[in-house]
Formats: sequence, structure tokens, C-alpha cells
Amino acid sequence: MSNRIRRVRSRAGWEIPESRVTPEGAAFPRRMILGAAASLAGGGMLGRAAAATPAPGFDPGRPLTLAEDATTYNNFYEFGTDKDIWQAAQRLPLSPWTIEIAGLVKTPRRIAIDDLVRQVPLQDRVYRHRCVEAWAMTVPWTGFPLSALLDIAEPTGSAKYVVFQTLADPKVMPGLGQSWYPWPYTEGLTIAEAHNDLAFIATGLYGKPLLPQNGGPIRLVTPWKYGFKSAKSLVRISFTEKRPSTFWEAIASNEYGFWANVNPAVPHPRWSQASERLIGTDERVPTQIYNGYGSYVAGLYAGMSNERLFM
Ligand code: MTE
Repeated sequence: MSNRIRRVRSRAGWEIPESRVTPEGAAFPRRMILGAAASLAGGGMLGRAAAATPAPGFDPGRPLTLAEDATTYNNFYEFGTDKDIWQAAQRLPLSPWTIEIAGLVKTPRRIAIDDLVRQVPLQDRVYRHRCVEAWAMTVPWTGFPLSALLDIAEPTGSAKYVVFQTLADPKVMPGLGQSWYPWPYTEGLTIAEAHNDLAFIATGLYGKPLLPQNGGPIRLVTPWKYGFKSAKSLVRISFTEKRPSTFWEAIASNEYGFWANVNPAVPHPRWSQASERLIGTDERVPTQIYNGYGSYVAGLYAGMSNERLFM
């Protein structure tokens, strides 16, 4: 049994009721999800997850993406630039795994992932997932609020940004041979963004521990931003006063900015962001500002009109 998928009940306005997003046959059969959860997390937890009450306020209006699609159509450039890197990613050893907590914190240190998950409230969250390439999914993560990690890290008062770094191991990641990319994959959030309720650290997907191709064993999830902000397979979380240089911004800052909030009205220089293709279906649906989470996050950006918030 892994602690990483232990569950507690969560209830918030952004929570997508499972009854809404799981029409029969649209995802893993429900019995299979719950069965996996039971074998991994113990029956006691299961009841709570299954009974989580739908919260008002946010309805995705679309079914869960099939687990098979979400785990075989991926972006993980460390393993290659194609979408079908899932087999190559199996070389990533997920255990043991430690995370370095560094920079402007009370006590820089390393934490083993199992010690970390014992200290946090694990929850299930169904989120929309919107890539800058204009495809989208709806997926059920397990994990914990990023704010819980901040509480553990204890950043000092001078910290303004959280910086997320992915593993960069050329022994298992053939993509690192493409030396023109600014490895390691690095992303960043402001401290205020990191404290937002939606900012999430995932350790599971579809009721199972996160697979390598989805950023196992631990990744960031910021559903109001384009997917490239959600750095995978985290090995270092540091705190800085200066805004970090992030992977895609360093490659093409006019195409992929630091803020990268989803906005249908701000096109990518080479394509429209007005709609998105739902993976596993032939459907295109209109994109929503902040990926539909504006009521939870728009306030973070009040008065920031000088910044390119949506690219
Ligand atoms: N993290 C790392 N380390 N490397 C990557 O190439 N791709 C990003 C993001 N995190 C990426 C990454 C992009 S562009 C997207 S859309 C999401 O991961 C895709 O996550 P998924 O494969 O789980 O859907």
C-alpha cells in the first residue's frame, strides 16, 4: 500500500462532482477505480472518496478523459518530442525519490517523498487540463494542495517565487541529448499563486500512483494555466526573490510567457486558443478564460495590466 494515494475528503467550489464527469464507460469503469483505490489505500479511505459531495459552482460539462488516453498521449520532452513517449518513460525509476527544498527557506533540506506525503492531506481533484497546443483533457488527480508543501518548506519573508525543477537524468531521459533545450525543465509561480487553493501537487491519477509519463512520482498541477506550467517528476522546489527563467519562456518568450494563464481571446502567435480538442473524442469545445477557474484565480492578477498574463 502506498501512502501516496491515501485519501481524505475535500470539498470546494472548484471540485468537479464525479457523478457529472463519469458517464458510464467514459473512463475506467467506476468499479475498477474504486477497486484500485481499495487495494492501494484501504477500504476505510474509499468510503470517504466515494461519498465526496458534489460542490456547486463549477461544472466541467464534459466527461473524464479515458485513463488510457491520458496515460498514452503525453508531453514529456525529457523522453522525446512526440506524444507517444509513454513507453520510453517507463525507464524512469520512481522509487526511491527525494525532493530538495532549497533557496529562501528556514531550513534547506531533502525530503523523501514517502515522508512528505505522510505530512500532507491527500485529496482527489478532477481538473480540466489544457495544453497550450489547444488540446485538453479532464482528469482525476490525487495529491495535496501546494500550500501544504509551502507550510512544510517554510519560505522566508523575502521569498517571492517558487521554482519547480524536474529530474534531468541523461541515463534514463534520451531527450536530454537535445542540448539546445534549457534543461532541467524549470517552472515557477509567485508565492500568491502557490498559495491559491487550486495549485496542486499530484502523486496519483485515476486512483493509482502517478505513472512516469504523467510526471511520476510527483508533479505540479495548475489547472488555470497552460499545461506547460505543470512541471513533472519534481526533484527540487526552491524559493527566490527573483522571477526564475522558465523552460518554455527561455525557448520562445513571445510564444510561452511566464504567466501562461488560459485565455481564448489571446491567440498563440501561430494558432488560435479560442477552442480546444478533447483528447479521445472528435469534439472541439470553446476554451474558457482561466480554463474555467476565473472565480478562484482572477483576483491574483488584479491590477497587473502591464504583464502578459495570458501567453
Ligand atoms: N514537465 C516536464 N518535465 N517536461 C515536459 O515536457 N510538458 C508540459 C507539462 N510538464 C512537460 C512537463 C506540457 S507542455 C504539458 S501539456 C503537460 O506537462 C502534459 O501533462 P500530461 O502528459 O500528464 O498530460
